[in-house]
Parts: sequence; structure tokens; C-alpha cells
Amino acid sequence: MTKDKLTILITAGPTREAIDPVRFLSNKSSGKMGYALAEAATEAGHRVILISGPTQLDLPDRVDFIPVESAADMYDAVEYWIGKADIAIFAAAVADYRPVSVPDHKIKKTSDTMTLELVKNPDILGSVRSSFHFQGVLIGFAAETENLEDNARGKLERKECDLIVANDVSRTDIGFNTYKNEVLLVFPDRTEKPPKDSKHHLAHVILDKAIDLQAP
Ligand code: PMT
Repeated sequence: MTKDKLTILITAGPTREAIDPVRFLSNKSSGKMGYALAEAATEAGHRVILISGPTQLDLPDRVDFIPVESAADMYDAVEYWIGKADIAIFAAAVADYRPVSVPDHKIKKTSDTMTLELVKNPDILGSVRSSFHFQGVLIGFAAETENLEDNARGKLERKECDLIVANDVSRTDIGFNTYKNEVLLVFPDRTEKPPKDSKHHLAHVILDKAIDLQAP
């Protein structure tokens, strides 16, 4: 039986991986898709825990906001909050790698070339079932530049998700930092293709799918 008011954990935005005290590695995520999901969920009367990397966006009303910087911060926040969630949606663009070491002073330009050694970040979405033992509805995103559906289906299976929202980030009219988006909804037994629309409208479509998965 479904509860009227669900708790929905959403990750959004980019992470920043420090190189030194004033520089970082990051990506093109604006947070728009994740914040649209947070707005859609509060509009539908649900409680939202929004764990977000740095963005320029206004905070949606009535969300529990957990600001983070790095993938490691986001991992810790998800580990802490996930137990409260009925549904978890991972729209953040998490950096896959971070610098191995971070000096406490600004790096000086003493040579013509510079090599950064990187180490893999923890896979937050991939830890949700296996390490955090989350049993609710789990929705991941995939940002791909080729083989969109196949790569998304691989993530669906490896990360034990109920749905992957697949984004073609090779296009400039959709994906990172755009108003509209066009996605594939990759379920274990089928793939759906809703029409291109505003991220706000698509957020409601994704939320409706999440609620159907929660109470089939
Ligand atoms: O923020 P916008 O400008 O609106 O753009 C975001 C988007 C529209 C492109 C968004 O929809 C999107 O695709 N976000 C996820 C981008 C991404 O990093 O995808 P990925 O294929 O690298 O990661 C797959 C999944 O694993 C994602 O759910 C990601 O949050 C998660 N992940 C990835 C790496 C990691 N270390 N931990 C994770 O949890």
C-alpha cells in the first residue's frame, strides 16, 4: 500500500574535486534536471532531501537541502540520508576521478607541463544497494555520447536500479545546462521515449514513473 507523502532523496549538480585551494576539476552540470525533480516532488506534496553540488540555481521551496562539494562529500551525505528515503533519484554528475593529493598551498607554475595523478572516486549510485542496503525505488541517470540505450541498460543492471534515465550529452540542445531535455527511460523489461520537453515537465514524468514503481 502506498503512503500519500513519500520521502524522495535527489542528488543534483556537479561535484568539484580540489586540485589545490583555489582550483578544481568539475563538469558541465548546471543542476537544472535535479532541481526540476525536487520541485516536481514538492509540488506533488512529497518530502525532498536534495543533496547538491555547487550550482547557480535558486533553491526550490520546502526542500531539506544538503550542500556538498566533492564526490566524497556526496557519498557521505547519501550514506547518512538514504535510510530515510522511499525513492532515491541520482541526477548528479559526479566526478569519476579526483586528484590523488591536494597541497594546502596554491600550485606555482614552475614548469611548462604538469601531470595530475587521479584516483577513482567511490561510485555512489553503485553503493546504494550493495553497501547501503537501500530497498526503495532506485533511479539513476546516465550521461552518454554513444550507444545510449545499451550503455544505460548496462548501468541499470550493474547498479541494481529500477530505472535509468538516459541522456545523450553529445547534443547541445538537450542534456547539460539546457532548459529542455530528451531522455530514454530504460526499465528492466522495456524502454520508453517520452517526447522532448522542458526539464520541469520531464521531472513530473519521471516522478510519476517512480511512484508507479513504488506502488505497482
Ligand atoms: O544538471 P544539468 O545541467 O540539468 O544536466 C544533468 C543532466 C541533464 C545531463 C542529467 O540528466 C544527467 O544525466 N546526470 C547524470 C550525469 C552523469 O554523471 O552520468 P554518469 O553516466 O556519469 O553516471 C551514472 C549514474 O551514476 C548517475 O546517476 C550518477 O549520479 C551516478 N554516479 C556516477 C559516478 C559516481 N562516482 N557516483 C555516482 O553516483
